[in-house]
Amino acid sequence: MLLVDLKPRIDDPQVQQVRALSMFPATAESVQRVMDRIRKNKERMLWGIENGESVLAIVEYYIREDEVIYIAGIAVSEQCRGQGIGRFMINTLQSKYNMAIELETDDDAIGFYRKCGFETSPFDKNNIRRYKCVLPVIKTNPRTSPPSSANDPLPQ
Ligand SMILES: CC(C)(COP(=O)(O)OP(=O)(O)OC[C@H]1O[C@@H](n2cnc3c(N)ncnc32)[C@H](O)[C@@H]1OP(=O)(O)O)[C@@H](O)C(=O)NCCC(=O)NCCS
Repeated sequence: MLLVDLKPRIDDPQVQQVRALSMFPATAESVQRVMDRIRKNKERMLWGIENGESVLAIVEYYIREDEVIYIAGIAVSEQCRGQGIGRFMINTLQSKYNMAIELETDDDAIGFYRKCGFETSPFDKNNIRRYKCVLPVIKTNPRTSPPSSANDPLPQ
């Protein structure tokens, strides 16, 4: 599997349909608003998974000033769910940047983020339960971390 840049395909209806799967409600207007936001902001990334010409999954994100990856939307096409594609996208983003990941979600998808290792904290938004989800990054400094056993050589 490969996470690829789908921004060059932003006008492709397939890309828009998969992006719309994580929009509630997804109306023609709201989808166009999101697509315009991605087109106009060069910091907005739109990556995903393809199989030939088919778009299987999408993740929209940007890097915040505090060096956190903020996910604005993530979705896997219905027939491809439950095969590890969502988790693959999260893990690939984290190893690509070596940064924490943050996003907001609801009761429907919270189980997925917990399975992926996110720390979750509930809050109320207009009487609807939402969750702030954070996947921390483990930063190790080989020069200051102790060797794992007394017999291991010190890091160079
Ligand atoms: C949420 C979503 C992206 C997950 O993608 P996916 O490819 O199906 O997830 P994965 O196969 O990588 O699942 C990883 C783990 O999370 C679990 N999981 C996936 N979706 C879940 C859900 N909605 N609730 C609880 N657990 C879930 C899987 O069972 C799997 O568990 P395992 O490690 O025990 O096998 C996908 O279901 C989706 O597109 N949903 C609609 C859009 C959406 O809700 N986006 C998120 C909005 S914030």
